[in-house]
Amino acid sequence: MARLLIVHHTPSPNLHALLDAARSGGNEPSIAGVEVVVRAALTASPVDVLEADGYVIGGPANLGYLAGAVKHFFDTVYYPCLEDTVGRPFAAYLHGNDDTAGARRALEVITTGLRWRPMAEVVEVKGEPDGAALEACWNLGATVAATIGEP
Ligand SMILES: Cc1cc2nc3c(=O)[nH]c(=O)nc-3n(C[C@H](O)[C@H](O)[C@H](O)COP(=O)(O)O)c2cc1C
Repeated sequence: MARLLIVHHTPSPNLHALLDAARSGGNEPSIAGVEVVVRAALTASPVDVLEADGYVIGGPANLGYLAGAVKHFFDTVYYPCLEDTVGRPFAAYLHGNDDTAGARRALEVITTGLRWRPMAEVVEVKGEPDGAALEACWNLGATVAATIGEP
């Protein structure tokens, strides 16, 4: 069974709604052969990353950059996973009050370094998520799941 790992930092109800949507997309019943594993960014380990086949990363923008928890995740897994996760598919969502551009750029730099394969544009959500934002996050989970699941 393929494994979709969702790594998230979720300090508010708005972020929780985005996480729920991504998880729901990952668990889409018509996509066979995928197990969804969800880990808080402060607890996710290199083993979690090595044992997964694709990733969804999500969290807030803080101070113009990725939230520290998400940065900590990447700091923890980067070198242990650098050789063995090349080409794996991923997607990401970011949430902020007004400007998530710096966080997106940081995410792109880090995942380019890891040579992960983006499955979609980073979903950037401001304020309370509307239906389109939730659908976009659902699509992230479903897209990565469909990529790693049974044909
Ligand atoms: C210390 C701190 C820095 C923040 N910096 C940014 C920022 O640079 N850009 C942004 O859009 N939002 C920023 N925010 C807002 C958070 O991204 C936002 O609170 C988080 O996504 C949760 O959103 P919510 O409170 O609307 O649920 C910041 C929040 C805090 C606490």
